[in-house]
Amino acid sequence: MFSPSLLGGDFSRAGEELAAIAAAGADYAHFDIMDGSFVPEITFGAKFIEDLRPLSDLVFDVHLMIENPERHVARFIEAGADLITVHAESTKHLWRVLSMIKESGKDAGVALNPGTPVSFIEPVLPIVDYVLVMTVNPGWGGQRFIPQMVDKIQELDSRRLEGGLSYIIGADGGVGRKNIRDLYQNGLDLAVMGTAFFSENDKASFLHELEETVQ
Ligand code: DX5
Ligand code: ZN
Repeated sequence: MFSPSLLGGDFSRAGEELAAIAAAGADYAHFDIMDGSFVPEITFGAKFIEDLRPLSDLVFDVHLMIENPERHVARFIEAGADLITVHAESTKHLWRVLSMIKESGKDAGVALNPGTPVSFIEPVLPIVDYVLVMTVNPGWGGQRFIPQMVDKIQELDSRRLEGGLSYIIGADGGVGRKNIRDLYQNGLDLAVMGTAFFSENDKASFLHELEETVQ
């Protein structure tokens, strides 16, 4: 499964970029929310998602790179998010914020920075729908994939099997042709892609090619 990130597209044409994501055959659209504090950049807020929501049936996958996400998740849910991912490092109340998302009937994800081990989120693994492994340091698109993160994906896959858990595993940052096969062989379910997706002219063929590669 693929979740192209609008961060790799042109925000002035966001509606068209969203349509291009759907036309290419992706199931998810990834929205990168940055607050200038948890990460240096600032992107956009809930209104951006709210305005795009009526244009698309894609699953809106909202990646919150913000401090204290418990203050903001309700607003993102109201705006139309289907899956909300918070960073394990961004809150003292990880269990609470994940529960807030679940209680609203939406899917809850937890993201790990490259320096954060899987053991840090072990207590919440039974209550999450999604674990997002950052394969770059969050904050910018177009960075180089950190190969050591493949081990983290493998560890999450093993824990899922051992614990009879059902979360899906995602990778975000520098994902593309060069690493997709290795990622899927180690347990990946959902590839987030910004630059790799939007730099292709024929986006449908690109996703089709990747699907063939990971069969
Ligand atoms: C990075 C974001 C990513 C970004 C990935 O902080 O979380 O979702 O869009 O972009 P690429 O695929 O260009 O690394
Ligand atoms: Zn992201």
